[in-house]
Amino acid sequence: MQTVLITGGTGLIGTALSRYLLEEGYHVIILSRNPKETAARHRVASAQNAFRPSGRLMHSRWDIQRMIIDPMAIQEADYVIHLAGAGVADKRWNHARKQEILVSRTRSSELLVQSLQRYTNKVRTVISASAIGWYGPDQGSPFVETDPASQDFLGQTCLQWEQSIEPCAAMGKRLVKLRLGIVLTTEGGALRAFRQPLYLGVAPILGSGRQMISWVHISDLCKAFGHALEKESMQGAYNVTAPQPVDNQTLMLSLARAVCGRRYLPMHVPSWALRWLMGEMSVEVLKSATVSSHKLEATGFAFQFADLDSAIRSLTKPC
Ligand SMILES: NC(=O)c1ccc[n+]([C@@H]2O[C@H](COP(=O)([O-])OP(=O)(O)OC[C@H]3O[C@@H](n4cnc5c(N)ncnc54)[C@H](OP(=O)(O)O)[C@@H]3O)[C@@H](O)[C@H]2O)c1
Repeated sequence: MQTVLITGGTGLIGTALSRYLLEEGYHVIILSRNPKETAARHRVASAQNAFRPSGRLMHSRWDIQRMIIDPMAIQEADYVIHLAGAGVADKRWNHARKQEILVSRTRSSELLVQSLQRYTNKVRTVISASAIGWYGPDQGSPFVETDPASQDFLGQTCLQWEQSIEPCAAMGKRLVKLRLGIVLTTEGGALRAFRQPLYLGVAPILGSGRQMISWVHISDLCKAFGHALEKESMQGAYNVTAPQPVDNQTLMLSLARAVCGRRYLPMHVPSWALRWLMGEMSVEVLKSATVSSHKLEATGFAFQFADLDSAIRSLTKPC
């Protein structure tokens, strides 16, 4: 059976992806800065019947600051999935935080590259996360993979992140870079943040509400990673976004209807207020990016949740 090494496998996407790959029959090694803590969390979840890894899940350690990695993790792996990086929306951006967001990604890529060069291994394929923060703002037609990176902080971070993992291709590994859209999941991230005010009956529409959001359901996202592992012809960058992006107002009102029925009040939050509250990070919610999923679909990938209403129905319960 094939083994997948996942960096940042403890995070929002990594947890769902590990579970998906275990269900698909893979062995999984989670590479973490704190593997003991993660292993303990998984043991609790397993005891609660939520997660049954049946001995096919291992935890391993790396120290990105000191450029140290457990060689076993590299030697055992057939595939590497690189997700690690400081959360883009976790803290207000200042110079130090922006450096951390960038360097946590590029330095961890460098450690992976160095380890793949240093230790004998059988890794065939490396799949690195990237993000649709690469693009924008909208200028007419949907963004495709050949479009240049945006000049803003997110665009330039994605560019350097993708460049930092590129040496894997020169080593003869198949390298796939998945530019992920805004992930919709009940476990956290954008959907949880958008849902909070709905419990007070308020549906906040951010800025003009017309900015396009290219989203993806967590279940389709996990399947897209699985597809990229197995589809030998895939190489280079692919957008992972549902085929029907929506604007912010449509997303907020669909979510409000699903959670509150008719008992909600739409409320516009002006762009200036978001800039004041969030600083430069407001670009995350105000930038309009309509992203094309054609290249991924052309490889034979079919989205289960292509439209927003079906995605939201599967992820929400009325309150
Ligand atoms: N969620 C989304 O909507 C979305 C959209 C587009 C792209 N992405 C990208 O996909 C990747 C995974 O996303 P996610 O939502 O699962 O992120 P997440 O929940 O924040 O998890 C990221 C993982 O990276 C590791 N990490 C955190 N800070 C780090 C640092 N300073 N240095 C090295 N490693 C660090 C952590 O693992 P340990 O603590 O175990 O080391 C953490 O579990 C990220 O790179 C993210 O930018 C996410």
